[in-house]
Amino acid sequence: MDPSASSAPAAAPPPTQPSQDNQHGTKRQLDEQINTDAGAKRPRTDAQDAVPDAPSNANGGVVTESNGVAESARQLAAESKQNESVKEVQAKTIVDAPVAETRGLPKGTAPIKQEYLVKVANRIVEADGAVDDDAAEAKTTDSRDRGGDAGGDKKKKRKGLNEKRDFGRSQDAKGLCYSRATFNENSPGECRFERDGKRCNVHHNIREYLAEGRRPDLEVFSGQCPIYEVSGDCPMGWKCLFVKSHSEEVTHEDGTKELVLLKDPSRKKTIIPGEESFPGTVNNVPTQRKIELSRKKYDFSKSQAYVQWLEKDSEIMQKIFNSKQAEGVSKTHDQKVQEYRAAFIEPPLKPAEKRRVYFGRETPVLAPLTTQGNLPFRRLCVEMGAGLTYSEMAVGLHVLQGQKHEWALLKAHESETRPPRFENPSAAPSGYDNSRDLKFAAQIAANQPWVALKTTQALVESLPHLRLIDINCGCPIDMVFKSGAGSALLDAPAKLERMIRGMNTVSGEVPITCKLRLGVRDGKPTAQKTIERLAFGESETSNAMGAPGCAAITLHGRSRQQRYRSDADWGYIANCAAMIQQYKKEKAALTDTVRAPDDSTLPNGGKMFFIGNGDCYSHVDYFDHIDNARVDTVMIARGALIKPWIFEEIEKGQYLDKSASERLSYIEKFSRYGIECWGSDEMGIGATRKFLLEYLSFTHRYVPIGLLEHLPPKINDRPPAYRGRDDLETLLASNNFKDWIKISEMFLGPAPDGFKFEPKHKSNAYEVEAEG
Ligand SMILES: Cc1cc2nc3c(=O)[nH]c(=O)nc-3n(C[C@H](O)[C@H](O)[C@H](O)COP(=O)(O)O)c2cc1C
Ligand SMILES: [Zn+2]
Ligand SMILES: [Zn+2]
Repeated sequence: MDPSASSAPAAAPPPTQPSQDNQHGTKRQLDEQINTDAGAKRPRTDAQDAVPDAPSNANGGVVTESNGVAESARQLAAESKQNESVKEVQAKTIVDAPVAETRGLPKGTAPIKQEYLVKVANRIVEADGAVDDDAAEAKTTDSRDRGGDAGGDKKKKRKGLNEKRDFGRSQDAKGLCYSRATFNENSPGECRFERDGKRCNVHHNIREYLAEGRRPDLEVFSGQCPIYEVSGDCPMGWKCLFVKSHSEEVTHEDGTKELVLLKDPSRKKTIIPGEESFPGTVNNVPTQRKIELSRKKYDFSKSQAYVQWLEKDSEIMQKIFNSKQAEGVSKTHDQKVQEYRAAFIEPPLKPAEKRRVYFGRETPVLAPLTTQGNLPFRRLCVEMGAGLTYSEMAVGLHVLQGQKHEWALLKAHESETRPPRFENPSAAPSGYDNSRDLKFAAQIAANQPWVALKTTQALVESLPHLRLIDINCGCPIDMVFKSGAGSALLDAPAKLERMIRGMNTVSGEVPITCKLRLGVRDGKPTAQKTIERLAFGESETSNAMGAPGCAAITLHGRSRQQRYRSDADWGYIANCAAMIQQYKKEKAALTDTVRAPDDSTLPNGGKMFFIGNGDCYSHVDYFDHIDNARVDTVMIARGALIKPWIFEEIEKGQYLDKSASERLSYIEKFSRYGIECWGSDEMGIGATRKFLLEYLSFTHRYVPIGLLEHLPPKINDRPPAYRGRDDLETLLASNNFKDWIKISEMFLGPAPDGFKFEPKHKSNAYEVEAEG
């Protein structure tokens, strides 16, 4: 009955009440367990049920007043904190609960209990805020953006995708010169801009800047600078919007006054040696390295030598395989293979011994997520129990151009540098050393072997904290696809194989992996063949060169064309998993001998891991896929965005009915981590707000499980308009971005004049044009 029961590591004790009638007893227990939550304790009144007079939000979902919401929400947060209790609802009880239909609403509607539905004249209001995950997967025009690859072909622009999003500008009215920003008033640095008759047009007088150049300090976080709190030294200096908490005016003996910045070394947490910049941030690459790259001064001779060899090798192969015998008779496959082997030239370099990796039941994986998978979000997920993390997809060409924004995607939090959990040594490859392992992996996009190789070389030589490098073979976005990268590689397996071979050769001890989709088109899956090829190499080359060296493969169970319209195909994923298991068992007896590569070339000590991905929304889905589809672990994307505590659910093997105040505390954490990562000045707060709003565009989709008639919750179900158990829960469910801005103001202060935010999908168009 309960797929999680056998696998749940820590199932809650069974409910104490005996159930007389199985169905009804279970239902009653369910209600009693869930309904003890904060707001539900208060009996609902008739007036509350008759909602028509409430300001009904046209977008469905929720009814809130925008004005003054921040203040009242803060009170609400405090109020519901008093009642705070995280409900640990035993999965078993809930899965057995009777299914009550949500009357008259379309399939795919979340089964919300009657008492929480917003009714107008007794009619349930259907929410119209359709979600568009395809739009979300495309990039935004953010400050770290790599330039408009969000939509691609102008003629075929998708309806509703808001491509040219503008967040306004987050900057001081009149800035402060860097020669003053981090110095005490009487000991300024030298202005490097005011030279040779040029003028530096920003403030040089700290008092004037504080009075006129910028807005007053923020009052959020009790006015205490989040960066100073953890490091005792705020690199934002006078530009920090919490500067009062780390500055003072001192009076000298001669009576003169001076504004000074404070430092408190006792607050400094251990910082990883060689990593300065913002507290807890690693993989900070010196500007000099990016300049070398942008000026094409970086030494890529290693990659170049291999690329030249690859080109020569492909030429030989092409020639032999296109050739006919003198009489014009086609050669047999075996003849061609023989000929290729005779002409084979050894490559200039061999892959170095790799650090072994491990993926298991105890390491749920946070997916690579463009825009959303930023450092603060990953930090939050790691805290919640994410076992492994990936960077946002970094575009190889932009890395090679030394683009600052692209390199910024590869920074990680120190919590991601710690080893993942490891509880099953028998499933690990020989030589796996957990103490040398870490959580953070990089994902890159490349359309040509030379881009993949050089990017890999630059990454491993510049970033000390990398678990592995994953090549993206799934990105569906037009611009990426048309350039030959992302999901286009699904149709170019020979190129993909060469890329992975080459990446392995230049990646030192860092393993290489890849992330696939089923295929490009619906109904024509190619993943199985590609997996086979990546495990062993193409038959012509494998005997000469061994396996390509892919340490792990992740498969997202959808095609490019399918996008998010229908469910991930876990049956197909299971077939691939079975095929890989079979390979492992029968390695020795494997098909023809040509295909059995030399053991020493097999990746990861002969153990290629296989990770499934798609629609995982609870511990029940997670363990079901591990136990039944037999994947090594599951990668989670939208499930983590909507409810980051999915990782905690997996760890505990239980559904968690998080109270609204607890959910708000995660938003607060994100804000704090955002400031620590991007800075506490106007720009850093602006970046934090922008990414917080992107995050809130997912969190509002969470329907508290205590409001559901039955479980399991489904990721693609949409709720009809409903109200939460308290006003804060109602606010958190709002799909109106104006409410999201109000929520951001609770932790980041008022949005500055001119701040704009438009959600990624402007209209509610849900229909997606078939692509590809
Ligand atoms: C907002 C968003 C951004 C994404 N960005 C990436 C990315 O950069 N690289 C990648 O390989 N997949 C990306 N994906 C795809 C996910 O990693 C994942 O394969 C997909 O969402 C299916 O998993 P899910 O059903 O758990 O959401 C993205 C998905 C979303 C929703
Ligand atoms: Zn100046
Ligand atoms: Zn500060």
